[in-house]
Amino acid sequence: MSDSFDVNEVRAQFPALAQIHHEKSPVVFLDNPGGTQVHQSVIDATTDYYLHHNANEGGAFATSQRTDNILHEAHTAVADMLNAASPDEIVFGPNMTTLTLGISRALAREIGPGDEIVVTRMDHDANISPWLLVAEDRGATVRWADFGVEDYTLDMVRLKGLINEKTKIVAVGYASNATGTVHDVATIVNWAHEVGALAFVDAVQYAPHGPIDVQALDCDLLAISAYKFFGSHVGALYGKYDLLDRLQAYKLRPAPNEPPGKYETGTQNHEGIAGVLAAVNYLAGIGEKYGRDYAYLFPSFSDRRLRLKTGMTVLREYDHILSKAILDELETLPGVRIHGITNRGRLKERVPTVSFTWEGHHPRDVAAYLGEQGIFVWDGNYYALAVTERLGLESQGGMVRIGAVHYNTVEEIQRLGDALRAMA
Ligand SMILES: Cc1ncc(COP(=O)(O)O)c(C=O)c1O
Repeated sequence: MSDSFDVNEVRAQFPALAQIHHEKSPVVFLDNPGGTQVHQSVIDATTDYYLHHNANEGGAFATSQRTDNILHEAHTAVADMLNAASPDEIVFGPNMTTLTLGISRALAREIGPGDEIVVTRMDHDANISPWLLVAEDRGATVRWADFGVEDYTLDMVRLKGLINEKTKIVAVGYASNATGTVHDVATIVNWAHEVGALAFVDAVQYAPHGPIDVQALDCDLLAISAYKFFGSHVGALYGKYDLLDRLQAYKLRPAPNEPPGKYETGTQNHEGIAGVLAAVNYLAGIGEKYGRDYAYLFPSFSDRRLRLKTGMTVLREYDHILSKAILDELETLPGVRIHGITNRGRLKERVPTVSFTWEGHHPRDVAAYLGEQGIFVWDGNYYALAVTERLGLESQGGMVRIGAVHYNTVEEIQRLGDALRAMA
């Protein structure tokens, strides 16, 4: 763990964290897997865009040219964050779901009867339903990869067995938004490529928690959402350039024929994309400030790409402290069942997103009770429908989810524990 990481210094840069609930206690935001609070620089960049740069792109005048610059800089920043080979491999859109549905339409043109698509029961539905729809439209078959209901990891042996010459797409999440499990994505991508299939990675939950390297993973497509990593409500899709170039996009005739423009349908959320640029620079700033000790881990990186790698490594290390604190608190409560990895020696295999059920307590009642105390958490299936169905919890209100990020403190998690003990 980086000795210098100063959570209070970080918290002071997130104005929303100063909210006081019912004029009594500070709000504890543990709803982060559903969306994080934004950094001050994101607010400033969005306001600045409206004040000084607001225009459509591609015009012959100053505000339009400045808009073009901001959009280009934002593509470059996300390419740096994901270690993409080029800014042209980054497509912006309203959110991950819409981008995935869009690219799945383009991919569907290359899929037909007899082809197979592999999805997992651990995924958010945004990385399942688009592929179910492709299969339905094109007469293809869906193969479901399962997870162990005791250890909450993907059954890798059976997953490998599902991938064969007929497989065209393997869709997998990087980290589960329900169990918090981080999957061995590189191995799965490799298995997909061995049979000539494409690998699509949903990295939405992992993005706020650790460094992502699309070239090292060698994935064909990877999606993230900036509102999960302290930025705006904007999604981004990485795709290998040759693939994005080859696929026929669902687009309007005057729109660009090259990536990324051919996938960026209509007018984009420019002010939001200005905020994404600020969010990426904020994460690089974490590396600059607290991550220097980790530079030796990334010898082939420099400049912002290096700062992003070291910054995300700082956050990943701090995550383990948060994961342990959440597990410690929940385990004091009789009747609580944690649906995820609890072994303290395996914290690297999870993010601090912890779902639980509690005997005698409906998940909605727990979330409402905590909400009254100013502790904000999610309940239900949070669109990880396949997970709650697999665990037999869908008809019982799903689970309560505690999701921490780097601006949360161990003290906040202790306050959560105190509130739950009081409720018990
Ligand atoms: C793992 C995962 N994938 C996809 C999504 C959907 O993202 P978006 O809201 O950007 O469509 C979410 C949102 O919760 C998620 O957690």
